[in-house]
Amino acid sequence: MAKIKSNYSCTECGGVANKWAGQCPACGQWNSLVECVVDAGTNRYSQTPQSLAQTAPVLQLSEIDALEVPRFTTGIEEFDRVLGGGLVCGGVVLIGGDPGIGKSTLLLQALAAMAMQKRVLYVSGEESGAQIALRSKRLGVENSALKLQAEIQLEKILSTLVQHKPQVVVIDSIQTMYSDALSSAPGSVAQVRECAAQLTRAAKLSNITIIMVGHVTKEGALAGPRVLEHIVDTVLYFEGDTHSSFRLVRAIKNRFGAVNELGVFAMTERGLKGVSNPSALFLSQHDTPVPGACVMVTQEGSRPLLVEIQALVDTSHAPNARRLSVGLEQNRLAMLLAVLHRHAGIAAFDQDVFINAVGGVKIVEPAADLAVLMAIHSSMRNRPLPRGLVVFGEVGLAGEIRPAPRGQERLREAAKLGFSVALIPKANAPKQPIEGLQIVAVDRIDQALSKLREIEN
Ligand code: TYD
Ligand code: MG
Repeated sequence: MAKIKSNYSCTECGGVANKWAGQCPACGQWNSLVECVVDAGTNRYSQTPQSLAQTAPVLQLSEIDALEVPRFTTGIEEFDRVLGGGLVCGGVVLIGGDPGIGKSTLLLQALAAMAMQKRVLYVSGEESGAQIALRSKRLGVENSALKLQAEIQLEKILSTLVQHKPQVVVIDSIQTMYSDALSSAPGSVAQVRECAAQLTRAAKLSNITIIMVGHVTKEGALAGPRVLEHIVDTVLYFEGDTHSSFRLVRAIKNRFGAVNELGVFAMTERGLKGVSNPSALFLSQHDTPVPGACVMVTQEGSRPLLVEIQALVDTSHAPNARRLSVGLEQNRLAMLLAVLHRHAGIAAFDQDVFINAVGGVKIVEPAADLAVLMAIHSSMRNRPLPRGLVVFGEVGLAGEIRPAPRGQERLREAAKLGFSVALIPKANAPKQPIEGLQIVAVDRIDQALSKLREIEN
């Protein structure tokens, strides 16, 4: 095969250079130049279209039939839920997560279930056939009609796709694949991008559903270029603490469904099992109320989840007090402490502040703000929050408490789980009373703290 020429393009601005350099000549960004294939000669892309969807003439939007995409189930209910109701023919899914969190396990289980109705292929670049066979025994799916290929060369995989015509393919993982067209090593940005693009093209042309596994970096982003996320239709992330048995799968991007949908699994000795009613998983069990713990209701996609937020405030002995957060946003913590000082007169400049969302869940929505502040306040005073209290609401820089989306659903879930008092934004106060739940609606942070004192007494 003729060597294809390569040049270097910037991952930040897209600028092109002939030689590698530490700094992009176009935008000045450091370490952003990566090797890419050059369009060799005339029409490499006219044979394999560069555009990922098939090309079509210009049409009036109203002339085009809005076809409902046909979906099929993965055989795992929680997995279907994150995907927005199942997989789509010709759809490409990227699934990321820390090593050992359960990506291969989940996909093997799903493929084994799908093998009953569809032609499926598992391409593994990380484990040998024997290792996967062993795992499938453990999962109790060794008798499935699943086809397996241990291969890392893209061209061979593409020809397998043509030969065997599978309907669903898992690529585990995209970082181990390499294309002969490029000279760089597997896992490099250029290779990952080229392999993902070629596979996506194959998926669209032959209507194959492809699920790619992607590794994440230390920072938690998918390793390799961000373009991976642009190429594929759906991006899922595995979250959770590898020490606890619960795993969350979250949709970050979905061209065929809602994002922020959440699938909850428990890792057992026979693989991942879906948890259909997860709302009380992320509460730690205290016999007596403890200072620094506050329960919030977070809304993950279509379902509310009760999560305990913990805070520890301790006198700092370092010149700069430490602010540390696990599962919540670090920058937001600094901001909330500033709001607490300016609008409620509670200073923490000489205190180390640690916050944590129990159970390894990651909370990105700002509706956690009020619960974080309540937990911090409780830890500072070394006094537990009242029993049965549940809190949510966003806190603004002016000290105001802003509403959270879908307040009613959150409140109903809290009432269902036996919570008796809800401290919430005024705009979220329900019009009809909710049975068993006392509503305390506030619109400023200082008001929230004084209402809290009233509840305590
Ligand atoms: P794995 O699915 O290989 O993770 P990834 O592909 O994301 O790197 O491994 C998941 C972990 O789960 C592994 O450390 C062993 C454990 N495990 C179980 O607890 N029960 C099981 O049935 C299986 C197959 C794995
Ligand atoms: Mg794996």
